[in-house]
Amino acid sequence: MRLETITDPARMKERSREVRHGGMKVGLVPTMGYLHDGHLSLMRRARRDCGWVVASIFVNPSQFGPGEDFEHYPRDLERDREMLERAEVDALFHPEPAAIYPRDPGGRSNYHTWITVEGLSDVLCGAARPGHFRGVATVVAKLLNIVEPDIAYFGQKDAQQAIIIRTMARDLNLAPRIEICPTVREADGLAMSSRNKYLSPAERDAAPVIHRALSAAMEAVAAGERSPRAVIERARIVLAGEPLFKLEYIELVDSNDLRPITNDRLAGEALLAAAGRIGNTRLIDNMVVAVKV
Ligand code: PAJ
Repeated sequence: MRLETITDPARMKERSREVRHGGMKVGLVPTMGYLHDGHLSLMRRARRDCGWVVASIFVNPSQFGPGEDFEHYPRDLERDREMLERAEVDALFHPEPAAIYPRDPGGRSNYHTWITVEGLSDVLCGAARPGHFRGVATVVAKLLNIVEPDIAYFGQKDAQQAIIIRTMARDLNLAPRIEICPTVREADGLAMSSRNKYLSPAERDAAPVIHRALSAAMEAVAAGERSPRAVIERARIVLAGEPLFKLEYIELVDSNDLRPITNDRLAGEALLAAAGRIGNTRLIDNMVVAVKV
């Protein structure tokens, strides 16, 4: 089967409706391209669940802040297309920016509607990236409305994004089911990311420190540590041992509403999330801490 490429949102909606009326389940995997095995794991999961799988590739300008890497974000459509074909994805939705955010004939923005998932968008990564999750929520809502999938797939690697999208879908009564799939890692534990391409060899050697730090914290919990502060400290010590790593945050938060864990003892589920920089590259990772009560 050849990969069908669609650029026009109206055509995308029409095609997806045709397929659904034919009785097939439609799965959507939104991406910004420069695909890796983390993305492909979502495609494979969609392939298992759905008769027709759409991947979108759109480097969404509205989720990049001024001074962020929008211009330099890695792009390689030919390579992505081959990977999608090999993964037996049925269709690629690859719109132009102006098809998503219209401009008037003078080139000024003629786009006005934004979605803010309040309370969840200005903490953790949102604190350092104002407006980022407003851009993410808005473009994902648009992609869901254009493709109208039965199921849309997202990765746990971007845990805050996944929680924000789940919450938006629930709050706005959006029809698609939102599935969150596990983080795919390199052999040394580094979470796969399109941005890993930016790392120099020395930075790449240092990058697994986040995974090592989160793993050390998880081991402490497994060994009986229940103090949230001590668990975070365990990770912090490992991170401090890598001089190339500049910590932005390491936090234990509620895995539903991202509120900081304020109890003295861990109980139930919590999200241990970290972000920082190695050189100019921002890296994030997380693990779910589950304590039986
Ligand atoms: P992007 O970074 O391209 O990621 C696309 C999807 O792949 C996201 O759901 C992300 O969580 C998932 N993903 C990335 N790396 C992963 C890994 N190592 N393991 C598992 N899943 C992984 O996230 C975005 O694009 C954008 O914000 C988007 C949702 C497309 C909106 O523009």
